[in-house]
Amino acid sequence: MSWLQIHLITEQERAHLVALLFENLGALSVTLGDAEDSPLFEPAPGEQPLWSSTRVTGLFPGDTDTDSLRQQINQALNREVTRELSLEILKDQVWERTWLDGFQPMRFGRRLWICPDGRRPEGKSGIFIDLDPGLAFGTGTHPTTSLCLQWLDHNEIEGKRVLDFGCGSGILAIAAIKLGAEQAYVLDHDPQALSATHDNGVKNGVSNRLNILENGSVPTAPVDLILANILAGTLIDLEPGLAGCLRPGGSIILSGILASQSDDVIQAYAGNFRMHPPKQAEDWVLIEGLRI
Ligand SMILES: C[S@@+](CC[C@H](N)C(=O)[O-])C[C@H]1O[C@@H](n2cnc3c(N)ncnc32)[C@H](O)[C@@H]1O
Repeated sequence: MSWLQIHLITEQERAHLVALLFENLGALSVTLGDAEDSPLFEPAPGEQPLWSSTRVTGLFPGDTDTDSLRQQINQALNREVTRELSLEILKDQVWERTWLDGFQPMRFGRRLWICPDGRRPEGKSGIFIDLDPGLAFGTGTHPTTSLCLQWLDHNEIEGKRVLDFGCGSGILAIAAIKLGAEQAYVLDHDPQALSATHDNGVKNGVSNRLNILENGSVPTAPVDLILANILAGTLIDLEPGLAGCLRPGGSIILSGILASQSDDVIQAYAGNFRMHPPKQAEDWVLIEGLRI
């Protein structure tokens, strides 16, 4: 079976109107995406952010009459808008698994490998983490996750109690456990993240040291290390709570911060933490702090 996919690039203000038109013309699904390279990092659940230049994609049954569809779109929208219209035929496949095709084992630091289910890098040794993010964030391909994994690989994790705040796929907590953490506590306000973390914990045989916390709760005793790859604004808001979860002398690893936001985050944490200079990858930074 095949599908007809239609893309139309339009400005933010018109995107919802185009989406509605696609729905009315019989689209089975409509998605909105970035038409340029201006990522929106981690919208809150239920939030519908839009890019200044938005690609509206409609998926139609493969037997749709393309000429008639084009004509109806041309009639409904003015020529300025429909100039950016493109159509393609898609062969049927298991869409939610296609990311696996391009996902090869990736090494972070000296020994940490993130592997898509069951795959191993040929002839390499190290610490292997089998990962299937499902619908959650966290494969290692984003610079913020990569920075955190490299930090974990380069630091002593053995015997530590770790809190992974905003665990996504569970990638950081599972890496910490595989590197010797005694216990990892994870939380996330997205239920799909908790489910992916649970499944990845089982897959990696670390469930006995992986503690999934209820939304709004924190570990009962202060931990030795906090990993929080979220967003600058959220990290700033969370500072008092995170400071309360970390023992004096413990480390906090903050990521999900754009380089231009570093100063604001450092300032917000300076009261309770000795902050290190940011480490940068592409536009993103990781900032380490030591609890005073
Ligand atoms: C950028 S992802 C990081 C996932 C993973 N830890 C990694 O490093 O790849 C951020 C995660 O934090 C969660 N999150 C964002 N704000 C949160 C909040 N206020 N409380 C709990 N979880 C939050 C999101 O649902 C998302 O799964």
